[in-house]
Amino acid sequence: MDFVNDENINRYADFVKSLNGGGGKFYIMTFGCQQNEADSEKLAGLALLMGYSAADNPEDADLILVNTCAIREHAELKALSKIGGFKKLKKSNPELIVGVCGCMANESHVVEKLKNSYPYVSFTLAPGDIHRLPEIVAGILSGGKRRFETESDVHPGIIEGLPVMRKERHRAWVSIMYGCNNFCSYCIVPYVRGRERSRRSEDIIRECRDLVQDGCRDITLLGQNVNSYSSDISFAELLLGIAKIDGDFRIRFMTSHPKDVPDELIDVIGAEEKIAPHFHLPLQSGSDRVLSLMNRRSTMERYSGILEKLRRSRPGIAVTSDIIVGFPTESEEDFDATLRALSELRFDMIYSFIYSPRKGTPAAVMDGQVPYPVKKERMSRLLELQGAISLEKNKLFEGRKDPVLVDSFETREGGGICSGRNAWGKLVHFEGTSEMIGTSRDVRIDRAGPFELYGTIVK
Ligand code: 5AD
Ligand code: SF4
Repeated sequence: MDFVNDENINRYADFVKSLNGGGGKFYIMTFGCQQNEADSEKLAGLALLMGYSAADNPEDADLILVNTCAIREHAELKALSKIGGFKKLKKSNPELIVGVCGCMANESHVVEKLKNSYPYVSFTLAPGDIHRLPEIVAGILSGGKRRFETESDVHPGIIEGLPVMRKERHRAWVSIMYGCNNFCSYCIVPYVRGRERSRRSEDIIRECRDLVQDGCRDITLLGQNVNSYSSDISFAELLLGIAKIDGDFRIRFMTSHPKDVPDELIDVIGAEEKIAPHFHLPLQSGSDRVLSLMNRRSTMERYSGILEKLRRSRPGIAVTSDIIVGFPTESEEDFDATLRALSELRFDMIYSFIYSPRKGTPAAVMDGQVPYPVKKERMSRLLELQGAISLEKNKLFEGRKDPVLVDSFETREGGGICSGRNAWGKLVHFEGTSEMIGTSRDVRIDRAGPFELYGTIVK
């Protein structure tokens, strides 16, 4: 593995600063998953390094970056429509630089389309090429051509030491690995984010230590499949290493794949208080036939075995999952198996998605694509069942008093509402003040809904 600390970044950034006099503003729009949120914080860090300051809205910006998601068609259409809106901004400010980053910037048909039909887009930047932002902006500012390339594979390794502009102090994303080797047949991620590569454990632990010293209370380790983390130590050992850091903080991680959840990991989750009692484990379908077509390399039996062990190891642990509805050839019987799985496995919450064919993936060309109205109808049945289960699960919190880490505050008539998460990852609302953001408060839960809890702060 090639670990690069690219000195050229500073050289190009200084050059950009000298060109725009350090007076420009940047605006970043983020779609998609937490990985993209984390990448946007690095893009923002690089923009600051180039002398740009943050704009409150795209109208005020000289550099607009759209960090896109390719996971479903809906996400792509939304991003394209936002990008289309920048046409008039470019008209009123010809110097404006618009860059498209993220997963769509690594799909060759999208890159072609942006190049040919979006003349006001100046460049694309694939997820593994983030560190090249200063180089590309320098090229464009000094009169170079528009740049449209998918990931060049010049840097198959990991770039360490990129500047990061964190949005919040009390919680942070930490990428521990990049890419994916699983090739689930519906998924575009292995094509746009490349093969799995893991950061060195000492770099990750150092980053976490710095975060905790800086007041971070909630760290989420990110990777497409964190259990395949592989460096000198295993993922379970990495968790132990982070848990040893002194301080009052919680560790979360996502996403895991049921094909590799070793007992070692389950034991560590049971033993380490600092690891949040929450596990996100995508199931995707309750039908073994569909799971096999999805190339999930897992079965319902294996999945429920993992859950049983997890719940024994860490009683009360919250488990959330992802479900895809309407995968090609999914029959009523297959879908019933998914509903049965939800009833048996009793997730705290699920993220459910209507299957969306992605160009270049095996499932997109499978026979037996399910008509949209059928998918939609199945989705509403799925949501109804899970809504009832989530409500029952959340009701178990009524009357309990637990710490909540406050993420946000909204003014209401006669006061304001704080929102945050408890250790189980449940969203909790209660009356509070804006100063409470970033602090942990004891909250008694008065009422549960299917998606959130409502409580009162306990003095
Ligand atoms: N269509 C619908 N949902 C998808 N996901 C991934 N690819 C697709 C697709 N083509 C869902 C999976 C995954 C989550 C991040 O997105 O459930 O776990
Ligand atoms: Fe994240 Fe996958 Fe979407 Fe890329 S395609 S932003 S990795 S969810």
